[in-house]
Amino acid sequence: MTQDATKATNITWHEGAVSRGERETLLGHKGVTIWLTGLSASGKSTIASALEQHLLHTKITAYRLDGDNVRFGLNKNLGFSPADRSENIRRISEVAKLFADAAVVAITSFISPYREDRDIARKLHEDAKLPFVEVYVDVPLEVAEQRDPKGLYKKARAGEIKEFTGIDAPYEAPSQAEIHLQADKLSVEESVQKIFSYLQEKGYLVAA
Ligand SMILES: Nc1ncnc2c1ncn2[C@@H]1O[C@H](COP(=O)(O)OP(=O)(O)OP(=O)(O)O)[C@@H](O)[C@H]1O
Ligand SMILES: [Mg+2]
Repeated sequence: MTQDATKATNITWHEGAVSRGERETLLGHKGVTIWLTGLSASGKSTIASALEQHLLHTKITAYRLDGDNVRFGLNKNLGFSPADRSENIRRISEVAKLFADAAVVAITSFISPYREDRDIARKLHEDAKLPFVEVYVDVPLEVAEQRDPKGLYKKARAGEIKEFTGIDAPYEAPSQAEIHLQADKLSVEESVQKIFSYLQEKGYLVAA
């Protein structure tokens, strides 16, 4: 069930004593959300964890929000109906935004198959003047199905999982992704390097 975000009333925003600019200077870099989207088994989690490791080893504070992991806690009360999938993405977007606001590189890895949901995440960040980098982790369905590290495609083909993205539920490919990774042609290291170079070029990895 999608939560009505407008139920809260009589609330007032309380400003902190540290501005965003000062926070970035103190921590040495800006905050940004890197939103990985793609089919199951395209490599989102694999690339996200290698990217997180690379950033941390470069002394950039980074933290992953990963599909299944988030459903163990924050989103354990959500299933896979369209409304629950949307609420899942809405909560992740809000949490990623908080991390980015904290000057952390937030790396999300969710299939996030619907363009509308990803655009909501993008808008949340734009409204908060925080950078949002959509990364399309692109592999042909045949490659994803051949990899199938969790055996999910096999189950979906056997009819044991319903509404599985790419099989009997749609995947709407991004039309405005900042980075397009052909993850069947690039190694994990090359994908990480491509994202890292983009962040450097944009100036996100240094304070203002
Ligand atoms: N070049 C590559 N880039 C990324 N992953 C690769 C590559 N080559 C092989 N793989 C393998 O593909 C699989 C990708 O699985 P991973 O769990 O990262 O996908 P995912 O997109 O997070 O899927 P899900 O949406 O189900 O969580 C892993 O077993 C990984 O080792
Ligand atoms: Mg994953």
